[in-house]
Amino acid sequence: MRLKQAKMSPFTKLLTLTGRRLFVGSVRHHSSLTAELIENMDRKSTWDRFYTETCSGTPTFKNFEWFFGFSSVRDFIMPLLQAGSRPDSSLQVLDLGCGTSALGPSIYRESAVPIRVTCADLSPVAVRLMREHVRAEAVRPRNPSSHIEFVELDCTQLDKHRGADSLDLIVDKGTTDALLRSKEGQGKAALVLRQCLRVLRRSGSLLQFSDEDPDVRLVWLETAAQEQGGTAADVGVQEVGVLRGVCYYCYHVTPKHVVKS
Ligand SMILES: C[S@@+](CC[C@H](N)C(=O)[O-])C[C@H]1O[C@@H](n2cnc3c(N)ncnc32)[C@H](O)[C@@H]1O
Repeated sequence: MRLKQAKMSPFTKLLTLTGRRLFVGSVRHHSSLTAELIENMDRKSTWDRFYTETCSGTPTFKNFEWFFGFSSVRDFIMPLLQAGSRPDSSLQVLDLGCGTSALGPSIYRESAVPIRVTCADLSPVAVRLMREHVRAEAVRPRNPSSHIEFVELDCTQLDKHRGADSLDLIVDKGTTDALLRSKEGQGKAALVLRQCLRVLRRSGSLLQFSDEDPDVRLVWLETAAQEQGGTAADVGVQEVGVLRGVCYYCYHVTPKHVVKS
């Protein structure tokens, strides 16, 4: 069966997705921020400005969720966190480009098995806001041995911060989409994908949550994962559902270590 996607331009989609908070500001301020976002979603300065402007002026912190929140994707994530795969140590989870989403903290709170969740983002503003929020809320994990941390990190340099075969699960909600839609982000998206495949364990998974049609994303994933004599990937897709007229997908990527001939 062919998967359908509602017709909506990327510009309209972005307005819909970011509109909840951006409408707080004036129309002029709103449109200039949106235009900057669309073209430069691979840049630190864009996101620092975005998180400063969307989170400032509100008396209480509220997570900003790109696409949707944890409840929409819980069933894709939590079954992958099984103790059996690593009985002696915590599972290592990375939220890649975490922003101010509650995704990482929700995984940390709900996991029955001990996990170490690293929420990483290019924007120091997002990282600071999340550190302060989680400290203030005193978020408690279901498993007392679990940990959570927030780190400022450019994920195009992930392999400088994480060893090969060191992560069990990487979740990416909208980050690869942001890179792929930027003027100069295509190369960065491919680099991030290959780095993810290098740092994932053989049994590990990368989940990309996206609104990109499978006809386009599956081809991109299979092509971008190729490295000469290195790691390639097995790729699958499932529909997350239709929200506000947009169809979302979960792309499940697993490393496939190519044997050199
Ligand atoms: C579309 S937002 C998604 C945020 C969050 N995952 C969510 O669901 O709300 C993309 C995020 O990726 C971050 N980002 C962009 N390039 C990055 C990079 N090279 N390394 C790490 N994070 C990056 C941005 O700062 C931004 O927070």
